[in-house]
Amino acid sequence: MSKGRLLSGMQPTGLLHLGNLEGALANWVKLQDEYEAFYFVADWHALTTMLDRTELIAKYRREVATDFLAAGLDPEKCAIFVQSDVKEHAELHLLLSMSTPVGWLERVPTFKEKKEQLHLETVSYGLMGYPVLMTADILMYKADVVPVGQDQLPHLELSREIGRRFNNIYGEIFPDCKGMLTKYAAMPGLDGRKMSKSYGNAIYLCDSPEETIEKVRTMFTDPLKIRKDDPGHPGGCAVYAMMDVYGQADMHDDCEAGKIGCMQCKKRLANFLNGRLAPIRERRNELVQHPERLDEILAAGAEKARKVAKVTMEEVREAMHF
Ligand code: TRP
Ligand code: SF4
Repeated sequence: MSKGRLLSGMQPTGLLHLGNLEGALANWVKLQDEYEAFYFVADWHALTTMLDRTELIAKYRREVATDFLAAGLDPEKCAIFVQSDVKEHAELHLLLSMSTPVGWLERVPTFKEKKEQLHLETVSYGLMGYPVLMTADILMYKADVVPVGQDQLPHLELSREIGRRFNNIYGEIFPDCKGMLTKYAAMPGLDGRKMSKSYGNAIYLCDSPEETIEKVRTMFTDPLKIRKDDPGHPGGCAVYAMMDVYGQADMHDDCEAGKIGCMQCKKRLANFLNGRLAPIRERRNELVQHPERLDEILAAGAEKARKVAKVTMEEVREAMHF
């Protein structure tokens, strides 16, 4: 029985943190055994928000790929590649853009949000086409499943519509894909808000054990719990929330009863995280010391991806008489 095909990507807009690890990457690692998986760094997508900081995209392109491998993606099991290494994505994006109504793109919630967040005077053609490029990524590999976070579900819905419309015009080329929502408790950051690079409250996969200890030391806890024997309220404590994500929150009653102090609790969390991150750091350090290895892995990944992309594009061009 052949395995289903799976595809997912991440934009290289920053270093990956614990939220990315537990929310996506750890799941990708599991899925690479169950599916024929394609994982890529969506560097063209990053241009939609970083067009004047392309040297940063270049830096994060490598960092994110390194984080993929450090987290446990195995190039023997799956294809790991960079979007811009497979030019077919750009061609398919162009062709799909011709049959995609502008009205569909204007209605995408992330488009409206970005437009407001970025305080853009004008919205670029590329930003508006974000979901079309994403559709090209998915349809190129005729992916059956696409693991994504909640925020990406509207994009996926649109991808299916774009695919269906294309099929209606040119014939049944693209299968229907479905989103796979990764269910997990959202990772809280150092300040208790959702962990996010833009909040400056993240622990990164590339942080050292010492940096992790230091970051955990600064975490928000119950402000009323000053001494160890003060009764605490774990409900409003970021340390507790993070331990809870890991199923390690057995200090609840001791906190309330004033039997443990925040220092001790933080030590436990830092120890736990450093244990969790140890194998990831080991792989990461190894890779950073041998940059040519990353180049080889990405080249081989692009080769694997291109093999599939080439076949799809031949079909598409033939159907469109190009
Ligand atoms: N838009 C996705 C994100 O920001 C990244 C992405 C690009 C993607 N192309 C994709 C995800 C295709 C899944 C499939 O998270
Ligand atoms: Fe949070 Fe632990 Fe302090 Fe309780 S003892 S407030 S759970 S850090």
